[in-house]
Amino acid sequence: MRNISEDTITQAVLAAMSGCKNDRLHTVMISLVQHLHSFAREVKLTESEWTYAINFLTEVGHITDDKRQEFILLSDTLGLSMLTTTQNNSKPPTCTETTVLGPFFVEGSPDYENGEDISNGAAGLPCFVTGHVRGLHGEAVPNATLEVWQSDEDGNYDVQYAAKQQAEVKHQGRGRLRTLADGRFHFRSILAEAYPIPHDGPVGRMLEALGRHPWRPAHLHFWINAAGYEPLITHIFRNGDKYLDSDAVFGVRSTLVADWIEHPAGVAPDGTLMDTPFYTLDYEFVLNPVGAAS
Ligand code: BEZ
Ligand code: FE
Repeated sequence: MRNISEDTITQAVLAAMSGCKNDRLHTVMISLVQHLHSFAREVKLTESEWTYAINFLTEVGHITDDKRQEFILLSDTLGLSMLTTTQNNSKPPTCTETTVLGPFFVEGSPDYENGEDISNGAAGLPCFVTGHVRGLHGEAVPNATLEVWQSDEDGNYDVQYAAKQQAEVKHQGRGRLRTLADGRFHFRSILAEAYPIPHDGPVGRMLEALGRHPWRPAHLHFWINAAGYEPLITHIFRNGDKYLDSDAVFGVRSTLVADWIEHPAGVAPDGTLMDTPFYTLDYEFVLNPVGAAS
């Protein structure tokens, strides 16, 4: 393989991979190389732009550690996460839609009973969340596991404080609970607020250079697992949020927007006498049975 030209380089790279024994890897890499080369030709990529891109990706790698995942942020802000999520989760239209996982889910969050307060001291106005998990025909889904996580009133997740202080994560605003026999769940937490995705790194600089903001509308994350149903990773967004139509990671679906209802101080749904205003949220999740047509 010599004297490869601008016109023959793509074929040369494809030929060099012809011995690949993994069919899927081969298919993916052929397409990737073809698209990368087409891209470089289309924009007539300059050497300094190539160097800039290499330095940018190097910075993305350097800032990434077990608490900060800049590659996921890059994928999210370029719409790749939502595209991948959407094309792999087609389901009947009455099922609850999927959205991005995001970088702030952590394994091993604490177990709670229904009715308990998952904020665990996180700052924010109290919020009482109720809901159901159902199947496609309205049937209750008992014993489903719900992983819930959210940011506090300053828009930070517990893991972000740990990242700043190099400390162990104190789990706040996250927990795992199970649906009751009738598919219901209920817990106390705090009001979710809009927040900017971490933007003090290369992805933040990219957004700024592109004239984009880093904000996500207020939301509560859910990851629901139940025997016989496909897992559901989603959020519920707060109606009225000013970023619903410009989410930095393109994750909003109209069906996932719900009313967080504000109440004056007084008796909360669980009977507690609240001396501050509080919010309530009610949402019904519909899971797709395993093997159902989409
Ligand atoms: C989140 O909602 O937690 C999130 C999603 C994508 C990027 C950053 C944060
Ligand atoms: Fe989030």
